[in-house]
Amino acid sequence: VPDPSFAPTLINWYSRHKRSLPWRGTKNPYFIWLSEVILQQTRVAQGLPYYERFVAAYPTVHDLAAAPQDEVLRLWQGLGYYSRARNMHHTAQLVVEKYGGRFPDNYEELLKLKGVGNYTAAAIAAFAFQERVAVLDGNVFRVLARVFGITDDIAAPASRKVFQKLADELVPAHEPDTYNQAIMEFGAIQCTPLMPDCMFCPLQQNCFAFNHGMVQELPVKSKA
Ligand code: ADE
Repeated sequence: VPDPSFAPTLINWYSRHKRSLPWRGTKNPYFIWLSEVILQQTRVAQGLPYYERFVAAYPTVHDLAAAPQDEVLRLWQGLGYYSRARNMHHTAQLVVEKYGGRFPDNYEELLKLKGVGNYTAAAIAAFAFQERVAVLDGNVFRVLARVFGITDDIAAPASRKVFQKLADELVPAHEPDTYNQAIMEFGAIQCTPLMPDCMFCPLQQNCFAFNHGMVQELPVKSKA
């Protein structure tokens, strides 16, 4: 492991700073999938009421699959990117028809689901099934780039491997789900893009970017 104190430090930070969010209290893969699809291009504050509405209207993947598409699109109204709603509806039907309404219980199988990519497969595997896999979103890229001084362009597809390898090594065997929530939350609240709170950061001493005056330079992201 590149730094054995990394995960415990983040988990400790998380226990003191986390926001209470409804999808964090569940291990139901359907609810976790729903929350991640809604949050993919949407801020938490905006996505929250939509999540509550979808859970209330469609308590199981069977309910969502059986719903008329125009009703699903109506519930989605205001979130934008309507193809997301159509894909979500389609994936729900696939889970019902091909998997008997049960989401696969591991990363590799989840990835085979049409409509479920790297990010979502990792999120479901980690949060619902406690698999030791790294969930990589923009927040995680930023935290890793800064703390470990990774200068690879996060917009370049080839960089993914570099980050995924490091990220996977950092996931602890104990509480991989909590760790993954913790690093995402840390990026969202503490190690933010523009004004990160370095003065009160528990990783400050070990942070490459902080120690080299490169916090504003990392992560490297080309404009393409
Ligand atoms: N954004 C995307 N997924 C999230 C999660 N699980 N918790 C908080 N914010 C998120």
